[in-house]
Amino acid sequence: MQTPEASRTVKVAVIPGDGIGTEVMDPTLRILEAIGGKHGLDFVWQHYDWSCEHYTRTGRMMPEDGLDRLAEADQILLGAVGYPGVPDHVSLWGLLIPIRRTFRQYINLRPVKLLRGIESPLRLQQDQSIDFVVIRENNEGEYSEVGGRLYRDTPEEVAVQEAIFTRRGVERAARYALELASTRRRRLASATKSNGIVHTMPFWDQVVHEVAADYPDVEVRDYHIDALAALFVLDPGRFDVVVASNLFGDILTDLGAAIIGSIGIAPSGNLNPEGEHPSMFEPVHGSAPDIAGQGIANPLGQIWAASMMLDHLGHPDAGAEVLAAVEATLDAGVRTPDLGGTATTTEVADAVLEHLATGAITARTAGTGEAAP
Ligand SMILES: NC(=O)c1ccc[n+]([C@@H]2O[C@H](COP(=O)([O-])OP(=O)(O)OC[C@H]3O[C@@H](n4cnc5c(N)ncnc54)[C@H](O)[C@@H]3O)[C@@H](O)[C@H]2O)c1
Repeated sequence: MQTPEASRTVKVAVIPGDGIGTEVMDPTLRILEAIGGKHGLDFVWQHYDWSCEHYTRTGRMMPEDGLDRLAEADQILLGAVGYPGVPDHVSLWGLLIPIRRTFRQYINLRPVKLLRGIESPLRLQQDQSIDFVVIRENNEGEYSEVGGRLYRDTPEEVAVQEAIFTRRGVERAARYALELASTRRRRLASATKSNGIVHTMPFWDQVVHEVAADYPDVEVRDYHIDALAALFVLDPGRFDVVVASNLFGDILTDLGAAIIGSIGIAPSGNLNPEGEHPSMFEPVHGSAPDIAGQGIANPLGQIWAASMMLDHLGHPDAGAEVLAAVEATLDAGVRTPDLGGTATTTEVADAVLEHLATGAITARTAGTGEAAP
């Protein structure tokens, strides 16, 4: 395991997963190889076919020593897991959640930024932009295994699920968000619901404000989650950094992905900020069974996630170059159908590669991904 600083050889565990996860991964690896060549990074891929297909074959989403094998990697790239036929709680708890927890990836970092070349579904004013970051607590909170069911299949049946909030867990999420805000526009919005959830949420608010005392330059404001969701739509320009519990952050970031044009472009990083374990980078979207196999999945969420991996590795110049190539691709009108275009996954990735190689993209006929005559 290497710390997240500049290094020449980088071992990356690659888990494409299911559905379109397998379609967006290969183009992303090609892009990483291209940018690695320019910035002196030599990627060594460790491929794992862990998926719902693996589950139906073996009864496990990943082998028993899966986490030990991943521990040898510097970073992890994940496509998406989940497929009809395997219950979602099996695919999630059999792969994604054990990785996030075992490797103490306690920060889920999700940029919500409207890229050049994309129109938001919101009616933004001329001077309005969307550029904020959601920090989702990624290891505890509402997603816990504590609970159970009693009197199954009887009229008296009971289901109990406990939310777990620890001081350490809330503190470190709050501190990460405050540090980030202090390097940006110095505004932190904290998602709460202390009026309805009377134990954990007042605790969350208290701990966030205790940590905020160390950051007097950052303006901290609590928002009830329902009002916060409405403001993502009505006034997204007001946000800089948003910090939220696991469930609230999960829901907010799908909304965040929607307001920046498509869930197909939104990225996320599951970070172990100390670099003691590998971090994991993945698109926000799932395996999209409705479009899997058609070659039209938008690869930009996975590619943007790879650019975040470059940042985390201590190569922000390389990360910025990939993101600039993504924006240039969108600007040139090379878009998959989810963004109103007709380009294929491969055509979009080829345009990103072309920009990385030449600094430009050959004019194409609108949205087709083909070179103009
Ligand atoms: N992190 C993950 O691995 C993850 C995240 C979310 C959902 N899932 C799983 O994925 C499966 C499908 O879930 P879902 O349908 O609710 O969510 P989804 O994100 O897979 O799809 C939602 C909608 O967005 C579209 N979409 C998503 N990504 C796209 C892309 N890159 N390009 C173009 N269109 C895209 C899909 O076609 C679909 O209409 C489920 O099994 C779910 O559990 C996994």
